[in-house]
Amino acid sequence: MENTVTNQVDTWNELSLVYKSALREINTKLEILNEEFQVVHKYNPIEHIKSRIKTPESIVKKLKRYGKESTIENMVKYVNDIAGIRVICSFTNDIYRIADMLSNQSDIRVLEVKDYLKNPKPSGYKSYHMIITLPIFLSDRIVDAVVEIQIRTVAMDFWASLEHKINYKFEGNIPVGIRNELVECAHMVSSLDDKMLSLNEEVRKLENESEESV
Ligand code: GTP
Ligand code: MG
Repeated sequence: MENTVTNQVDTWNELSLVYKSALREINTKLEILNEEFQVVHKYNPIEHIKSRIKTPESIVKKLKRYGKESTIENMVKYVNDIAGIRVICSFTNDIYRIADMLSNQSDIRVLEVKDYLKNPKPSGYKSYHMIITLPIFLSDRIVDAVVEIQIRTVAMDFWASLEHKINYKFEGNIPVGIRNELVECAHMVSSLDDKMLSLNEEVRKLENESEESV
């Protein structure tokens, strides 16, 4: 028994190293894309990046929710957001740009896409989710690591973090009045995102015109 637990701890330590490495790789990829964009297109599509490794406690909680036993095998097989990265952009069109640029990299394999921009959740939640794998080169082998990437605008992120807090407070049973107000806020977020995008495009067009006339 003692021995099994020690083995499991060792395996978890190895696994979390792989997931941490995967987050570093994706982070670097995103930083490179952002910097290149600054050089070529004179702007940064990424506002900021947040990443985290899921705690063992919340992995176990998720497995329980899925009706699965808490084993290392089940973690790897069923929990695809152990390594999670959130990319926050200024404008909605940057979301697809970043998603495409990442998907087109030859070492990244996209397992699943959930486009909650095109199909928002009933809660009002909007974001672009990708589950990807990428190879991690260890001393004696290569392992594929699964990473969940969420891409959203600053405004969508503001909404999602408040909604998450409210949801937590009410343990998932948000009173209907508040839920409706959150949906209304989500609509306001969408129209703000649309307005900010068109405003930005207008300004860029004016910039280009004034550059051309010089
Ligand atoms: P899980 O089993 O929870 O992973 O659900 P799923 O596999 O259907 O994943 P989905 O892609 O729908 O959501 C994964 C993550 O997106 C969640 O862990 C949250 O971080 C975020 N998310 C999804 N829906 C909502 C929502 O309604 N509100 C907020 N604030 N976040 C959400
Ligand atoms: Mg999930």
